[in-house]
Amino acid sequence: MRKSPSLRVYLELMRPLLDTQEVQSMGQWNHHFGVTTYEHSLFVSYVAFRLARRLRANYYAAARAGLLHDLYLYSPYRPDSHPGNQCFYHPIAALENAKALVPDLTADEQNSILSHMWPLAYHAPRCRLAVIISLADKFCAVLEICKIYKLLGLREVMPASSYEMVE
Ligand SMILES: [Fe+2]
Ligand SMILES: [Fe+2]
Repeated sequence: MRKSPSLRVYLELMRPLLDTQEVQSMGQWNHHFGVTTYEHSLFVSYVAFRLARRLRANYYAAARAGLLHDLYLYSPYRPDSHPGNQCFYHPIAALENAKALVPDLTADEQNSILSHMWPLAYHAPRCRLAVIISLADKFCAVLEICKIYKLLGLREVMPASSYEMVE
């Protein structure tokens, strides 16, 4: 896969957030079948960015909420690493971490993170941005679970995490 003009714009826009230790550290956890939480978040962020541009929505917010929507920062496969059910709990942890990392997170971005697992979430999407993030998340998850992610060649064009996947 080659770097498209859209991908260049996206990477330039997200570079400061991508380079943070918090976002980079998602590279150590397996999220879906060998795709790390970092790779998944980058994928969702880019798809949400493209979708938002197509729909003339706020593409910066879409890229940012996409990158932060799974910033839960623990191993999802270790039961002792988080309380409660991972499916319902991780958006809450992700929002807490996202607010600490990005103090100017908007209400729409916050709702997008909290509701991205809808209908398996305590909070429903309340804005167009949240619907975009939820759709992008499901679309990317299906491609990852069906092992199509690796065929897309995204690893060749997306910046790699500085962390090794450990579990
Ligand atoms: Fe998630
Ligand atoms: Fe996700």
